[in-house]
Amino acid sequence: MSIAIVCSGGDAPGMNPALKRFVDYMFFNNRKPYFIYNGLEGLIDNNIKPATHKDVSGILYRGGAIIGSSRSKRWPGKKYREIGYENLKKRGIDSIIVLGGDGSFRGLDLFCKEFDVKFVGIPATIDNDIAGTEYCLGVDTALNVIRDAIDKIRDTASTFKRGFVVEVMGRECGYLCATSAIACGAELCLIPEVDLDLNLAQKILSKQIEEGRNYVLCFVAEGTGKSDYMVKWIEEKLGIETRKSVLGYIQRGGNPTVFERLMAFEFVVKAIDLLIREGEYNKVVCYNKGEFSTKSIDDVVNNKYIISQHILDMLNYIG
Ligand code: F6P
Repeated sequence: MSIAIVCSGGDAPGMNPALKRFVDYMFFNNRKPYFIYNGLEGLIDNNIKPATHKDVSGILYRGGAIIGSSRSKRWPGKKYREIGYENLKKRGIDSIIVLGGDGSFRGLDLFCKEFDVKFVGIPATIDNDIAGTEYCLGVDTALNVIRDAIDKIRDTASTFKRGFVVEVMGRECGYLCATSAIACGAELCLIPEVDLDLNLAQKILSKQIEEGRNYVLCFVAEGTGKSDYMVKWIEEKLGIETRKSVLGYIQRGGNPTVFERLMAFEFVVKAIDLLIREGEYNKVVCYNKGEFSTKSIDDVVNNKYIISQHILDMLNYIG
């Protein structure tokens, strides 16, 4: 059995350690590893090559993905999936491991239902928004990147006595924003999942300002679309000059943390073991409460990620 690995959708730190482990563990099991370059676009374009130890030496510490990634616009077209299948068949590749988010899993699920291909998904997105798993590759590094950026923004906030609205990525999901707000000591946090009581926040913060607080950090999830609104709100309701800082793509980059690297290794070993030892496929490897498990692709793609109540409770104490 030959297995190919592909990165699909937004890149996430941890993809490179996963690629390295994929090659090492495949050779360890006397299997031939393949890389599909540039995401599902590469599968259509026949950009598939045998992977070697040389390809993955020295990549462990790098963010992004050395094999590239893409959000393929052609993949929804059946004729392109047919081409993709032919490209795999002529190399004797019968299984694919996908590092990506639920959109990518959906695309692969369709593919594997139509053609004789087996698929295992590894959750990889800084958004941490995949149902069925508490953790996706990339989120730990992204949280640390945000933490580092906020430590710097706070220098100006405190020196200039300014408010800062910090916009955090995460699509429709507030995980990245809420967790970093808690870890960075933000006073305000707006995420799509919670209707923040701004009247109460105004009362609490006005009192703190009377008592000497001279700056405010407000984290806003991109999915709320409320960054500009909050800049005005802080200026008008709290009387503090305020700036906006959109962290943007720096959140997707950077050297994977130690945790991320170890998790990447574990995810990949589980995925390969599922395919070559346990004969299980069309599954996603998940991580919950310190343990790995697998969930059916249907369970993952037909459910919505729900941010844990524990995190939402912690948000109540900030301010
Ligand atoms: O899914 C990762 C992510 O960075 C989101 O947080 C963000 O909304 C989106 O990708 C940006 O997408 P693109 O790379 O296509 O601009």
